[in-house]
Amino acid sequence: MYRIAPSILSADFARLGEEVRAVIAAGADWIHFDVMDQHYVPNLTIGPGVAQALKRHCVRSDGTPVLLDVHLMVQPVDALAQAFVEAGADVISFHPDASAHVDRTLQLIRAGGCAAGLAFNPAEPLDLLEWVIDKVDLVLVMGVNPGFGGQGLIESSLRKVAQARRLIDAHRRETGRDIRLQVDGGVKVDNIRRLAEAGADTFVAGSAIFAQPNYVQVMAALRLQLALRAREAETA
Ligand code: DX5
Ligand code: ZN
Repeated sequence: MYRIAPSILSADFARLGEEVRAVIAAGADWIHFDVMDQHYVPNLTIGPGVAQALKRHCVRSDGTPVLLDVHLMVQPVDALAQAFVEAGADVISFHPDASAHVDRTLQLIRAGGCAAGLAFNPAEPLDLLEWVIDKVDLVLVMGVNPGFGGQGLIESSLRKVAQARRLIDAHRRETGRDIRLQVDGGVKVDNIRRLAEAGADTFVAGSAIFAQPNYVQVMAALRLQLALRAREAETA
C-alpha cells in the first residue's frame, strides 16, 4: 500500500535516463517529475519534452511500467497539463491557486486518461477539496514551500496530512473510491514513519535519495521505516 516516488529534481540532470533507471532498480514505485516555471515558483526546471524522453526509461526489468508522476508548479496550468497528458504522464498534480478553474483543470487531466492530483502548499487549507473530491485521484500535501529540493519538513504538514486522511477515508466510506495521499518535500528516513502514521501512503523524496551514493541502501532504509509502521498498524 505504501509507494515511494523519488523526485528527480535532485538527480543529476545531465544523466536523467540513467538516474531514473538506477532508482527504479533500487525499488522506486513511481518517478516524481517536478515542473517549475519561475513564475508560480522561483525556479525553472524541465518540461514535457524531457518527460516524453524519460517515459521509455520508466519500466522495471520485468517489463512492468513505473508511473510517471508529474507535479506541476506552474501558472497558468491548463496548457501545460495538456502537454504532459500528451507526453505520457500517468499522474498530473497541480496547485489549485494556480488554476483559474480548478474543476475544469481536473476534468482536462482525467479526460486525457491521467490520474488527477491536487497539491496544497503549507499555508493553504484543504477546504476546496470538499467541492471537487469526486474528481481527485491524489491529494498532495506539500511538506515545504514548493520551489526547491533539500528543505526541511514544515511540522504543520503532519496535521494537514492527518486532516486529508480523514477526508479521504470519509469519501471512501461514502463512495468506495480510494484516493492516494502523497506527501512531498522534506521527507527523510527519520520522518517518513511519522508521516505514514499521520496517514500518508505515497512519499516523494528527492534529496534524501539522490544525495546518497547508494540508492539501494537509502530505499531500503525508507522501506524499513514504512514496514515498521505497517506492523505497528496491524497490531494496534
Ligand atoms: C519541491 C518539490 C519536491 C522536491 C522535494 O518543490 O515539489 O518534489 O523535489 O525535494 P526534497 O525531498 O529534497 O525535499
Ligand atoms: Zn514535487
